[in-house]
Amino acid sequence: MKFAATLAAALLCSSAASAHFILTYPASRGFNDDAEPTGPCGGFNALSNRTQFPLTNGFVEILSVHPSSTLQINVVLGSNPAAADFTAAASTPANSTSMNHPGHGCFPLNLSSFNGAANNANATIQLIYNGGDGPLYQCADVVLVTSAPGFDQSQCVNNNDATTSSSGVAPAPTGSGAASIPAKSAALVALTFVAAMMSL
Ligand SMILES: *[C@@H]1O[C@H](CO)[C@@H](O)[C@H](O)[C@H]1NC(C)=O
Ligand SMILES: *[C@@H]1O[C@H](CO)[C@@H](O)[C@H](O)[C@H]1NC(C)=O
Ligand SMILES: *[C@@H]1O[C@H](CO)[C@@H](O)[C@H](O)[C@H]1NC(C)=O
Ligand SMILES: *[C@@H]1O[C@H](CO)[C@@H](O)[C@H](O)[C@H]1NC(C)=O
Repeated sequence: MKFAATLAAALLCSSAASAHFILTYPASRGFNDDAEPTGPCGGFNALSNRTQFPLTNGFVEILSVHPSSTLQINVVLGSNPAAADFTAAASTPANSTSMNHPGHGCFPLNLSSFNGAANNANATIQLIYNGGDGPLYQCADVVLVTSAPGFDQSQCVNNNDATTSSSGVAPAPTGSGAASIPAKSAALVALTFVAAMMSL
C-alpha cells in the first residue's frame, strides 16, 4: 500500500510525466516516474524483497494508460543479476505480448518449460513496456516455486478503467486523499491524471 501511495504521489507531482505504466504485481522493485525509461529496471538496480512466483499459473499485472502497448517479459535467473544478465535474458524473452486497451492488464506467465527455471530458483522478472514512445522498465524480484501460497492469484485483473475514467473530468486528488484510497485505485487515479495531462 505504501508503495502504491508513493508512486501515486510521484506521478501526481510530476509535471512532465514520462511513465505510462506501472508493474502492480508481483511487487515492483520500485517506481520512479523520471527513471522509468532507464534500463534495466527503471532506475532500481538494488534487489528488493522476493515474491513467491509459481512455475505454472503465474502472471504479471500492469496498469497502463496507453490505448495500445507492447510488453516483453524477460526472466533473468540468478540471485543478483547484473545489467549484462538482463541484456542476455532479453534475447530469449519469456513472453512477448501486447495490450489493446488502457487500464489493468493481466499477462499469464507459464515458466514450467522456461530454460533453467526450477523450484526454489531465484529470478528477476523484467518488463519492457512500449506504449509508442519508447521502452519503459520495471522489475520484480521473485523466487520460482512449484507451490506458491504467497502468490496472490486475485491480483489478476483485466479491465479498461483508464478509458472510462479519463473520458470524464480528471479527478484532482490531494496527497492525503490519494494515500487513503486502495492501492489499485490510487495508482489508477494517478495514471488517469497523467493521461489527462498528456491529452491537454
Ligand atoms: C521487505 O520485507 C521486510 C521483512 O518482511 C519488511 O520489513 C520490509 O518492509 C520489506 N520491504 C519492502 C520494500 O517491501
Ligand atoms: C535467493 O535470494 C535470497 C535473497 O534474496 C538469498 O537469501 C538466497 O540465498 C538465494 N537463494 C539461492 C538459491 O541462491
Ligand atoms: C504469453 O502471453 C500470452 C498472452 O498474455 C498468453 O496467452 C500465453 O499463455 C503466454 N505464454 C507463456 C509461455 O507464458
Ligand atoms: C505450462 O507449460 C507446460 C509445459 O509447456 C504445459 O504442459 C502446461 O499445460 C502449461 N500450463 C498452462 C496453465 O498453460
